[in-house]
Amino acid sequence: MKLNLDIPAFLQQHWQQQPCVIRQAIPEFEDPIEPDELAGLALEESVSSRIVIRDGERWFSESGGREDYNDLGGQDWQLLVQAVNHHHGPAQSLCEQFRFLPDWRFDDLMVSFAVPGGGVGPHIDNYDVFILQGQGERRWQVGQQGSHRPRPNCPGMALVEDFEPIIDVVMQPGDLLYIPPGFPHCGQTLTPSLSYSLGYRAPSQQELLGALADHLLDSDQGKRRFTSSSESAQPGVLSLTHQKGMMTLLQSLFDDPAQWQDTLGRLLSQNRFELDPWPPSPALTQTEIAEALGQDAALYRLAGLKVLQLEGAPATDLYLDGERYSLPEPLADTATLLANRLTLEASEWRPLFQLAPDTLLEWLNLGYWQLDH
Ligand code: SIN
Ligand code: CO
Repeated sequence: MKLNLDIPAFLQQHWQQQPCVIRQAIPEFEDPIEPDELAGLALEESVSSRIVIRDGERWFSESGGREDYNDLGGQDWQLLVQAVNHHHGPAQSLCEQFRFLPDWRFDDLMVSFAVPGGGVGPHIDNYDVFILQGQGERRWQVGQQGSHRPRPNCPGMALVEDFEPIIDVVMQPGDLLYIPPGFPHCGQTLTPSLSYSLGYRAPSQQELLGALADHLLDSDQGKRRFTSSSESAQPGVLSLTHQKGMMTLLQSLFDDPAQWQDTLGRLLSQNRFELDPWPPSPALTQTEIAEALGQDAALYRLAGLKVLQLEGAPATDLYLDGERYSLPEPLADTATLLANRLTLEASEWRPLFQLAPDTLLEWLNLGYWQLDH
């Protein structure tokens, strides 16, 4: 099952710009998960899920899954489960086909099962999303960006009024729909369906400023105050020059990349949904790692874990799930492999064991990587 997409053309013409449908993006697509497995996952406490029920032109959401779906009947509902890739190997493998986009952007793989008439209603996301159709058929409509009136009488759903579609398609297994942020869309299920939404997010000004402010407070920096050499003649007026001067003071904080790199690394290596590590029990020892190395074990990264390296910062600084780890200087190439590859062969991770054994041990015992043959 391979993604059949002209990536350079897609990035140039559509990504972050225009929605599109790619027919048979994964030819002969086979669902990586069954509806029953999805329903089971939805019942786990660490998994975020919801059921959306449609009543004519209104939609209602309940959080969590259900033990029994019989009450809901065979029509007009949909089960949505977030971050399935964190918990399900084959679902994670599907996401890996989309690593032509950087990991920091990727949010999660949401899988939904819907019966005829089911859908979440017309809405707008702040995120880029790829929707891949699995078994069954769904009709998707996408409207133009712009202002769309909120839909009344659907509490907590953030739906919009009906829109004029610019895309109106029936998706078959293996078809892919891409929707950039801000385009209203609505899926309507025709036959029992599984669909896979790969969501991507980018930080907002609020998130960035919040994270940067937290960093300044934590590190007791950013205490320089505004100064001026001239004052407004009117006592009740804050001059435009002074307003701009204050904003310049703020901007000057970020002249030095070191001021923001650490914040960005921490912020963007975090997951919005819980990871599902399986720390070894009992904890691994250095002797066991040496044995695994002797047996040529490969090092496998935990599904969903983001390992970020920042261009312009020391290559040996890696950010994992909101934390910074600084490896010794000679491990620059190993750090690059750890950031970019999901699996490292024994010969590739050997230098890590030789030069930073404690960090490797910590990572393995956190369940961030696993050793396997
Ligand atoms: C769905 O699968 O119906 C929801 C996906 C989305 O609209 O982003
Ligand atoms: Co959506």
